[in-house]
Amino acid sequence: MIIKNLRLHNFRNYEKTEIVLDPGMNLITGDNAQGKTNLLESMVCLSLTRSHRLNSDQSLIRNGTDYAEIGCIFEDGTDKRIDILIHPEGKTLLVRKQPVKRNSEFIGLLNVILFSPDDMGIFSDAPKERRKILNQEITKVSPQYLTALSKYNALLKDRNILLKQDEPDVRYLDVLDEQMIEVSRIIIDERRKFVSEINRHMPGIFQRLSGTDLKGTVRYHSVTDEESNDIENGLRMLYMNLRLRDLEYHVTGNGIHREDIEFDLNDQNVIYTASQGQKRMILLAFKLSLMKFAESKSGKVPVLLLDDVLSELDMTRQKNLIREIYGKCQSIITSTDYPEFLKDYQIREFRITHGTVTEYNGGK
Ligand SMILES: Nc1ncnc2c1ncn2[C@@H]1O[C@H](COP(=O)(O)OP(=O)(O)O)[C@@H](O)[C@H]1O
Ligand SMILES: [Mg+2]
Repeated sequence: MIIKNLRLHNFRNYEKTEIVLDPGMNLITGDNAQGKTNLLESMVCLSLTRSHRLNSDQSLIRNGTDYAEIGCIFEDGTDKRIDILIHPEGKTLLVRKQPVKRNSEFIGLLNVILFSPDDMGIFSDAPKERRKILNQEITKVSPQYLTALSKYNALLKDRNILLKQDEPDVRYLDVLDEQMIEVSRIIIDERRKFVSEINRHMPGIFQRLSGTDLKGTVRYHSVTDEESNDIENGLRMLYMNLRLRDLEYHVTGNGIHREDIEFDLNDQNVIYTASQGQKRMILLAFKLSLMKFAESKSGKVPVLLLDDVLSELDMTRQKNLIREIYGKCQSIITSTDYPEFLKDYQIREFRITHGTVTEYNGGK
């Protein structure tokens, strides 16, 4: 997948900008607070319909203006145009200039994977944040996962309302449980496949990036026994065991909405032993494995966005990273400085000053 051009209008600190990206590697340099992250953020929005940063859509609109417009033409076999209009009433999503009603018709058309220093919280965040990544990445490539997840959330809501009643109708609870088992089975199956595909790639990538022979993997904490092939039976047991407790506490205490993933170094959770540098490499290896996962599911290689990552790595690791991705995907890399060693690569360079982007070859 290749973003050919990107257009921003009244987005964050951009007034009006259009940039034509290289199908290979793009480097965007600029001092702090000039708009590097904002530029990558616009591409995340075009992939997910919303920002990766924790704030409202309204903060995406340039101060003092009423609406923002972002759009791109990307190629994944054919050229496609997508746009988002952000206005005070909300957002309008457009595919080939036609508004679409549902987010699901838009999410994942363009697939970007972002690595940002803000992601480093993921190891110690609440499980909810890790589930968000899990759901987001599978959703981008599996419409049936999104459908199952929406159904599950609706059922969970109904079940919790029922449990709040003084004397819940147990037959209705049976019906809900049966339906929840059915959709949970689909979700768990997809999550298992996700983790297994990630683990096919992550150890090798981690070793190449870090230059060590340590093993970097992810581990799935499921409500069913991971060794067992009979997911449905596992779920039946779970719901049987949940019943009394849930009736007592008036809430659904367990289920796929409680599952988690863990990041491991040599089979140990990184939060216990890994250094900050090792955690960064684990997360990078995970992100690059997400690219492989998406490719295996959709046949299309996502666009890789690396926000300010080079400055956090020592020279050897910077070189390992660039070697790992060069020529394999389109990448857009931001940095405050021009890394000297990149002279040896064919790269398109841009410089950002106060929301103005200029193509540039000052690094050479
Ligand atoms: N809605 C907005 N309107 C105008 N400027 C904004 C808006 N949101 C953020 N900014 C500005 O964008 C700049 C930060 O851009 P950012 O992309 O995070 O910088 P960096 O180049 O360091 O990554 C700040 O100067 C901030 O004030
Ligand atoms: Mg930034």
